[in-house]
Amino acid sequence: MSDGLEDVVAAETVLSEVDGQAGRLIIRGRSLDELAGRTRFEEVARLLFDGFFDDLPADFGPALGAARLAVFAEVAALDTGLLDRTPIEAMRALTARLADGDDLEVAFRLLAAPAVFTAAVVRAQAGEAPVRPDPALSHAADILRMTRGRPATRAEAEALDAYLVTVSDHGLNASTFAARVIASTRAGLTSAVLGGISALKGPLHGGAPGPVIDMLDAIGEPANARAWLEAALARGDRLMGFGHRVYRVRDPRADALKRAVGRLSDGSNVRPGRLAFAEAVESAALAILREKKPNRPLDTNVEFYTALLLEALGLPPSTFTCVFAMGRVAGWIAHAREQLAGGRLIRPQSRYVGPLPQVAA
Ligand code: ACO
Repeated sequence: MSDGLEDVVAAETVLSEVDGQAGRLIIRGRSLDELAGRTRFEEVARLLFDGFFDDLPADFGPALGAARLAVFAEVAALDTGLLDRTPIEAMRALTARLADGDDLEVAFRLLAAPAVFTAAVVRAQAGEAPVRPDPALSHAADILRMTRGRPATRAEAEALDAYLVTVSDHGLNASTFAARVIASTRAGLTSAVLGGISALKGPLHGGAPGPVIDMLDAIGEPANARAWLEAALARGDRLMGFGHRVYRVRDPRADALKRAVGRLSDGSNVRPGRLAFAEAVESAALAILREKKPNRPLDTNVEFYTALLLEALGLPPSTFTCVFAMGRVAGWIAHAREQLAGGRLIRPQSRYVGPLPQVAA
């Protein structure tokens, strides 16, 4: 048995390759550096879907814009009961209202759903009316407009695009595996995506970036970093934004996102000194992890600079995991279709270690 299925190969995929020793990510034959900051999310979603659906449009922009408008109709179902939930729980509940199925129309609606529903939920929680999608905008620009209620600058839209592309697919991570297991039962894409959202929400997976901001806020200034981080480790806490199941070196996505934060720093988005402060906390954390966990190479993962980037874009930390889902949903759908195309029902074995029935003598 492999604890946590570590090193178990559970699927063959043409979608992405995570090289944990070299710190390299390939998405459909392109390196992450070739894609992030250079390619729009719509194009990467097309790249991921290619070969898994018939008659894909050459440009995903209009179809995705139309899907944003179509799913916006469900926002009317956002009742006050859902507003007491966390944004990801409310977004998941609205996504669950979408019809299940395996066709391209269902896929486009699911691609649009986390963006449209999260924006409506956070605005409603702040007492503001939802903003109707603008199908003429890029997905990234419309996400920022729908969430914040004002148009995004070009630099902001490009930064969010770089983020969505960076997290669009990443091998057989926990949420993608969950989506593939569900797809393998032929339950449909909506069911698979709901499973992906549910797995993503945990703090050991996509729930980490909100707590990264809490950590930075609690540390407050670089001089406090070492003492705060040591105390956290002494309590047995994990340092959010560090460590990975597959990477034994720095997660390449961390640098792609750090570059995107750096590009935004030229404008007014990033608080003065914020990036330098985060870098100081990062260096302190890496030094302490090396000291306290000498047997496990622990480095920065995607979530650390995700937190900085999404904060700089004026998105509330309570939505960070939802924004992750806005990008990863492309991977979940592609993996679900790949599973459906060639894979058998995923049904592993467990080893029984409980008591045996008492047999009468
Ligand atoms: N802080 C402190 N210690 C850590 C951390 C961390 N962030 N990550 C791993 N460790 C330690 C564990 O305590 C353990 O130490 P021990 O052997 O002394 O008990 C050792 O490293 C191995 O830990 P595992 O739990 O076996 O490692 P696993 O591969 O299961 O964990 C995970 C990977 C869950 C990402 C882990 O590194 C973690 O909890 N990180 C913090 C949360 C986080 O940032 N999650 C986002 C990951 S990226 C993503 O999913 C998109």
